[in-house]
Amino acid sequence: MNGFAKLGLVAACALVGVSTVSAQGGGPAPTPEKATETAVLTRQGLLKVVAWSFAPVGNMLKGAPFDAAAAQRSASRIKVLATMLPDAFDTDTHAQSKTPTKAKESIWTNKADFASKADDLQKAAAALEDAAKGGSADATKAAARAVGKACGDCHKAYRDE
Ligand code: HEC
Repeated sequence: MNGFAKLGLVAACALVGVSTVSAQGGGPAPTPEKATETAVLTRQGLLKVVAWSFAPVGNMLKGAPFDAAAAQRSASRIKVLATMLPDAFDTDTHAQSKTPTKAKESIWTNKADFASKADDLQKAAAALEDAAKGGSADATKAAARAVGKACGDCHKAYRDE
């Protein structure tokens, strides 16, 4: 790419950036319905990524070959994702009826407890990361079960069946 083409691309990217910002800042605000839908889909997307990150270690618990590096990668991802959970559930959507959700209303009346369950997951993932670094299959699997328990503890309290 020559210098001018490069410059043009940079300029085009800058323009896109500007118009995106002004579309959010100056255009009509999203309807409450749309904002709620976005909040629900965003947190569900986050949990899909949490589950996707856990899948390799979940499979090891079900008999897939032990892979310390894969377990470590899963753990380090979950460790970060867990810190996003309380913020991702910040918008109280219990009064909405349009976007399907399994989130229980009690999330928003027990915010501190919900956040502590996210913190439990974060800590369990940190312990899993340490165990995987240590390289012991038994210790890693025990730590992976504790991560699974942290998922289940929150679901039992705050997710509809
Ligand atoms: C702090 C609470 C909490 C923790 C910890 C948690 N979850 Fe969840 N999870 C929820 C709630 C609440 C929902 C329902 C969200 C909704 O429907 O709006 C959910 C939904 C899900 C979903 C469905 C997402 C979708 O497609 O709609 C999956 C999959 C999931 N969780 C997996 C996991 C796994 C795996 C873990 C642990 C590694 C985990 N979750 C840890 C609270 C939690």
